[in-house]
Amino acid sequence: MKPTLFIGDINVDIMMGGLESFPIPDREITCASFDVALGSSAVIAACTFAALGGECAFLGLAGRDAYGEFMLDGMKDFGIDISPVVRTDKVKTGVTVNLIHGGQRTQVTYGGTIPELDGTPINRSAFAGFGHVHFAGPYQQTKLRPHITRLLKTARECGLTTSLDPQWDATEQWQFVDEWLPLLDYFFPNADEARSITGTATAEEACMKLSARTRRVVVKAGKDGAMLVDGGALVPVRPPQIRIVDTTGAGDALDSGFLYAIQARQMPLRDALRFGVATASRSCTFVGGAAARSSYDDVVQFMKDKM
Ligand SMILES: Nc1ncnc2c1ncn2[C@@H]1O[C@H](COP(=O)(O)OP(=O)(O)OP(=O)(O)O)[C@@H](O)[C@H]1O
Ligand SMILES: [Mg+2]
Repeated sequence: MKPTLFIGDINVDIMMGGLESFPIPDREITCASFDVALGSSAVIAACTFAALGGECAFLGLAGRDAYGEFMLDGMKDFGIDISPVVRTDKVKTGVTVNLIHGGQRTQVTYGGTIPELDGTPINRSAFAGFGHVHFAGPYQQTKLRPHITRLLKTARECGLTTSLDPQWDATEQWQFVDEWLPLLDYFFPNADEARSITGTATAEEACMKLSARTRRVVVKAGKDGAMLVDGGALVPVRPPQIRIVDTTGAGDALDSGFLYAIQARQMPLRDALRFGVATASRSCTFVGGAAARSSYDDVVQFMKDKM
């Protein structure tokens, strides 16, 4: 199996858990736990993939600052090849502050390096030796986004398979999605994203609609699990009943669990979706998107115990 290339954002997640209430203007409240964790959709996906046993590299932009070092050290520790990462001293590494209260999460992001990753210099040479490329979070990455169509075409010409997790588009315009869908092997929206893209009322309808426009769509539905369309039929997979600690990056964990199951373990689609849901749900039992560090055996055991 050739390694996978992850292209996308690099940012730190500041996790404040167990808030006594949601923030109140002009008042100070306290929280019970604090962590600085590896953040960003693409990094969490890459870390999850590497922890499962997949070989991968990361292409992104990190600041020449303490949080940039933190992110690169963290990725190296997972065994990710970070040689394609570009450093900058023009902007600081992005930061997302996660405020967690009663199972709900409010986020504040300082973009920093996130919108500054420039797609212009990325060309065929970036794809040499890889078997798959995964893009994540294009709507916060304004300088990368206009290049993704070209990069997907180039990747396919170089023999790679492709995937993309759109994350939320605050404008709900979903610029370029029409161009990307035919060039993707796997598309990973969550239920809100899928409904907004298709203008449908339910995740199920959105999944059916998207499956007519792309090779394979996996719609993630939080506590309801995830679904895909196989042979014209909707296949839902329910997550196990578990105590949720933190859902940060669960969707990214699902993307990578699913991709790893297909690519490294040649699992049939439905088994791969179950494996992806299990990888994601297990990640919800840890604070921080990459903290679960689930190995393949960990996920298999989790499925035996819980699903
Ligand atoms: N409350 C929950 N209980 C059990 N599993 C959950 C829960 N929330 C999320 N998951 C697991 O995580 C997967 C992905 O969740 P979700 O729909 O939140 O993705 P997402 O919105 O893309 O997440 P992200 O915040 O990473 O972008 C689900 O399919 C499920 O397996
Ligand atoms: Mg998501």
